[in-house]
Amino acid sequence: MKRSALLFFVFSAVCFFVVAGVSAKEASKQSLGEKLFMKHCSKCHPDGGNVVTVTKTLNPKDREANNVKTEEDIIKLMRNPGPGMVKFGKNVISEKNAKAIAEYILKTFK
Ligand code: HEC
Repeated sequence: MKRSALLFFVFSAVCFFVVAGVSAKEASKQSLGEKLFMKHCSKCHPDGGNVVTVTKTLNPKDREANNVKTEEDIIKLMRNPGPGMVKFGKNVISEKNAKAIAEYILKTFK
């Protein structure tokens, strides 16, 4: 009886740490894309808008009309943007960070 109580306790503790670990990882992943977006993009794209060219927001309706549909499409634009947008080379935003920003955009602006 005592032993099964101990086993139950250990099992619960393991479950707790697995769940806490996974959600902490999710949260930090989310905040990386968001943090980078705030730093590099939000000046011109506040809340996913576009203060320079109002017809090219980050919302799916505009993006899709302009053929910007996937993470790769967004990363391509950071490397080689249209008129009015600054260029972000790999020295400024690494491939990993560019992916985090693209993920954030696709997930956030609806
Ligand atoms: C200096 C202002 C500025 C900054 C900073 C900026 N953008 Fe842009 N962005 C623009 C402009 C202007 C356009 C429209 C360009 C065009 O006419 O093709 C645009 C277009 C886009 C589009 C295409 C939207 C559509 O509907 O076609 C994406 C995606 C995008 N930007 C992502 C980003 C990301 C990601 C960042 C940060 C890493 C960023 N932008 C930073 C000005 C900016």
